[in-house]
Amino acid sequence: MRKKIVAGNWKMNKTLSEGIELAKEVNAKVKSQNASNVQVIIGTPFIHLAEVNKTVDPALVSVSAQNCATEASGAYTGEVSAAMVASTGCKYVILGHSERRSYYGETDAILVKKVARALENKLEVIFCVGEVLAEREANQHFEVVKSQLVNGLFNLTAEEFGNIVIAYEPVWAIGTGKTATSDQAQEMHAFIRKVIADQYGKAIAENTSILYGGSCNAKNADELFANPDVDGGLIGGASLKAEDFSAIISARSKH
Ligand code: PGA
Repeated sequence: MRKKIVAGNWKMNKTLSEGIELAKEVNAKVKSQNASNVQVIIGTPFIHLAEVNKTVDPALVSVSAQNCATEASGAYTGEVSAAMVASTGCKYVILGHSERRSYYGETDAILVKKVARALENKLEVIFCVGEVLAEREANQHFEVVKSQLVNGLFNLTAEEFGNIVIAYEPVWAIGTGKTATSDQAQEMHAFIRKVIADQYGKAIAENTSILYGGSCNAKNADELFANPDVDGGLIGGASLKAEDFSAIISARSKH
């Protein structure tokens, strides 16, 4: 059975002490709420990873990085390797976020390398896909998302693909307050599952968690998660307040 997941993406927010405080609050909320059917993940900046991994109870909250290097180790000033991420106790890494694709020039070819490094280090990958507004308006959104999946992931074996979580994040919905409608999310998630089934078979597609991201919050989470192919959320802004994040976890838990 595929996992229900609520993952926070803190992006470039919170100093170290603020991050530890937030991780403590999230851990306490998760402990007090009855949501053991939901895998809760927090995606923090690199410098928080080691401390946050010591702060949370791994049985309640898993920790994710938001990126890793294409190379395994060596003279790559300023980079952080997948092995380093794993050594902090992380279980996950977010790769291919649209902000990385658009601001830092991450291409499909770069992502293929990053995914390989992550899997070599036993990290599960939260792999982000999604179209920009002009592509949706030109009715190219299915094509764009399919090509991101094919070019970024479909070199993997079926066994390797078992360590991939997909996050569908329409770029026009990220940080804009403009969420995809529940129907738009379900339509794309069902499409993604079909593309995976065509490549890896129905059983693997049914086992793949597909998260929605883009202005998902405590108010709209319930409706989004009621869809059969929306397995959870990748939450940006609303993951920075423990109370809001916890409400989203409750919404995921109850469906
Ligand atoms: P948002 O970000 O929830 O702030 O729209 C989501 C994301 O980019 O992962």
